[in-house]
Amino acid sequence: MVKSVTVRAPCSTANLGPGFDVFGMALDAFYDEVTVTKKPKSFGIKIVSSDDIPLDPKKNTAGLVAESMMKEQGISDGVEISIKKNVPAGYGMGSSAASAAACAIGIAELFQYTKHFEEEGMLYHAGYGEKASAGTAHYDNVAASLFGGFVVVNPYVHLYHNPNGITVRSFPVPNSLRMVVAIPKISVPKQKTKASRSVIPKNVKFSDVVQNLACATQMIAELSQRKEANGLRFGANILDVIVEPARKKLIPGFDKVKKNALDAGADACTISGAGPSVIAFLDEHPNGSDREPVNTKRIGEAMKKGFKSAKVDCDIVICKPSKGPKIIRRK
Ligand code: HSE
Repeated sequence: MVKSVTVRAPCSTANLGPGFDVFGMALDAFYDEVTVTKKPKSFGIKIVSSDDIPLDPKKNTAGLVAESMMKEQGISDGVEISIKKNVPAGYGMGSSAASAAACAIGIAELFQYTKHFEEEGMLYHAGYGEKASAGTAHYDNVAASLFGGFVVVNPYVHLYHNPNGITVRSFPVPNSLRMVVAIPKISVPKQKTKASRSVIPKNVKFSDVVQNLACATQMIAELSQRKEANGLRFGANILDVIVEPARKKLIPGFDKVKKNALDAGADACTISGAGPSVIAFLDEHPNGSDREPVNTKRIGEAMKKGFKSAKVDCDIVICKPSKGPKIIRRK
């Protein structure tokens, strides 16, 4: 009988411009590794990690996920959750979500309840874990880490009258799509997502809503093409006139980083999730285009210069979309 399961889940970028809290994409850049081990009931839920993360299960994303899933299924065993963080925490790369997703898959697998945890139910529990860092549940990053590729989540529609069912769709993305992420070396507050959600405007202009909606729906339309989607047309619609203008004030040098990325050939550039990382998108070989292949390294260097103009150093990560999580060990 399997007593212990180890899962690797990818980091992700959320929002992708106009899809605030709705769009997410798994990135083949960093992966968290979570081992869930069955223990006797008296053990309860314990977190083990040598990384700088909360060890109290009520304050840890993975701890909340385990508690929520086990409570729903009436599982009374104890579990040890061992977490190896590789995703930088607090930089808009879906760090807490990667641990949440890995833990959700581990629990489902360990207790052989996979068939009872329908995918959308699993998303509900993994999103619940996000409360630990964001203050409220949101599902874009966890959906990307759970299902891979590009995801669209809708927590407002509950199919089959299941209040825990979050509607989600995962789309394959064009193979030639590349992301350049600039991760600034600045300190971030402990509950960064909560802080960066507090600057989002309460009221917005109707025409801005229409523009974001047009861009968001066009991105989906592009991915829904029967023939291979065009990464350039997908990327060119990554434009956000609502959240980015409010949040960019929290990112020193943002305007310059974005301008430099676009001048160097990126199709789009925006804040990755709640920031402060900035992410540029490009299609290396757009279908039917005679455009010169664009150099991701050049875009990375341009973004670095942008941050430098604000006296901020940054790491540059060039990546593709990730196909999603993987169970790497069963013992
Ligand atoms: N959609 C969330 C936000 C993602 O932007 O606040 C947080 O990573």
